[in-house]
Amino acid sequence: MSTSPKPVKKVPIHLQSAQNRVYIKNGEIVNHDKSFKADVYIEDGIIKFVGPSSEITIPGGVRTIDASGLMIIPGGIDPHTHLQLPFGGAVAVDDFYHGTRAAVAGGTTMIIDFVLPNKHESMIEAYDKWRSWADPKVCCDYGLHVGITWWSKSVSEEIGILCKELGVNSFKTFMAYKGLYQLNDSDLLDVFERIRHLNGVAMVHAENGDIIAKNTQRLLAEGINGPEGHELSRPEEVEAEAVHRACVLAHQAACPLYVVHVMSKSAGIELARARHRYRGRYIMGETLAAALGTDATCCQHLGFDHEAAHVLSPPLRPDKTTPEFLMKLLANDDLQLTGSDNCTFNKEHKALGKGDFTKIPNGVNGVEDRMSLVWEKGVHAGLLDPCRFVAVTSTNAAKIFNIYPQKGRIAVGSDADIVIWNPNATRTISKDTHHHACDFNIFEGMTVHGVCEFVLVRGRICAEQGNVRVAEGFGRFIPTPVRPPFVYDIIEGKVQSPPEDQHEEKLNGNVAKRFAELD
Ligand code: URP
Ligand code: ZN
Ligand code: ZN
Ligand code: ZN
Repeated sequence: MSTSPKPVKKVPIHLQSAQNRVYIKNGEIVNHDKSFKADVYIEDGIIKFVGPSSEITIPGGVRTIDASGLMIIPGGIDPHTHLQLPFGGAVAVDDFYHGTRAAVAGGTTMIIDFVLPNKHESMIEAYDKWRSWADPKVCCDYGLHVGITWWSKSVSEEIGILCKELGVNSFKTFMAYKGLYQLNDSDLLDVFERIRHLNGVAMVHAENGDIIAKNTQRLLAEGINGPEGHELSRPEEVEAEAVHRACVLAHQAACPLYVVHVMSKSAGIELARARHRYRGRYIMGETLAAALGTDATCCQHLGFDHEAAHVLSPPLRPDKTTPEFLMKLLANDDLQLTGSDNCTFNKEHKALGKGDFTKIPNGVNGVEDRMSLVWEKGVHAGLLDPCRFVAVTSTNAAKIFNIYPQKGRIAVGSDADIVIWNPNATRTISKDTHHHACDFNIFEGMTVHGVCEFVLVRGRICAEQGNVRVAEGFGRFIPTPVRPPFVYDIIEGKVQSPPEDQHEEKLNGNVAKRFAELD
């Protein structure tokens, strides 16, 4: 029997300027659910073709990149940044230009920043302020979460406007920063009910602000006023208690809750327990590049500047085993995402807290190095496979904030936010070579595998073999619509949650085993 070759449908290519058209050949595409060899063709910022080279004809004049031996991955989405944030008497030095430039240099093609209104400030006015800061400066696309820093009828109404008209589906609440942003449990319940009513996503900074305030008073009275007082005032159980409480409150309000910056083993365990208790519904969690890449043991007794440079909240834990523990939670889907919480201050700003650790502006870098660190500590260490790496650095953020598959996937029709990733190359992190505006890097001296050979932001080649060529203002605001199916389908029973027995087995097996590791 003779077999005639299958006719190949060729994709027609329209003649346009070469700048708008990029062809990437011979690479290995890695999405969160599978990896495969294919070529990618991009036109006008959109992926137009994914498939074998035999199915596409490329005319002359198209920029062609040979990705042999390299991976083609969705650009990173950093769901947690604070660019040019006014905080603690200073303004974060990575503004929307330097911060997004650093992001792109490291393979992140979208960030989601936090609008943080002052107490009694209108959320809409604060939102407009953030847009006016970001729009002219961003080098990559961005979205916004909005902080609920106080509670009233007008705030409740404005949440509705933000959801329905202004492209915001996620709202951060605070159980810490007493007297500044902290809400009490009753207000948190009201907020969660309101967000659920609007089909949004609640977020929480989970630390018990009342305990922290008491501990702080005691430490200062005892004369402990250096940076070491920061962690001493907010030890692990202060974080874990708040995670547990926040999950219960969200469950009572039937509201999906995203716990930001999980920084300790015990907080991670509480989050994992809640996820298993509610059978995969309601609760999601993020940890940070900082928590995966370093810990506080390196800093002890190295002097004010070094220690203050590491101050963020919740704090890095003085425990060498925490980073790997958190990575294992990510591997097992007990945690879903990695952010950076990039909020950088220079030595002179951190010095505001000399003699009183409560006055050290909180925050560290991470938006540039997050991708490489998760690769190094996750994939290179044998704890994550490349698909899971894509899930926790990009796809899960796109799904939770409802911009998938526009973002977070290499597929026809998706934005051409693409990183051509060299898993074998290494680089050494340093403040002298990073793209941040800040004078310190908490990962100084670390050599990491996983280097971007090319970074494309909506089809524009913005980084190429170490040369970063971004365009200020090129980024766009990406609205995040309400009711993300990834979050709401499971809550509404449209997607089956794991069967009870499997859930029990996981709870009794995995979580209990990890819990035992704590003792
Ligand atoms: O220390 C931190 N994390 N600074 C930024 C504000 C916050 O709580 O995320
Ligand atoms: Zn926070
Ligand atoms: Zn250190
Ligand atoms: Zn933050």
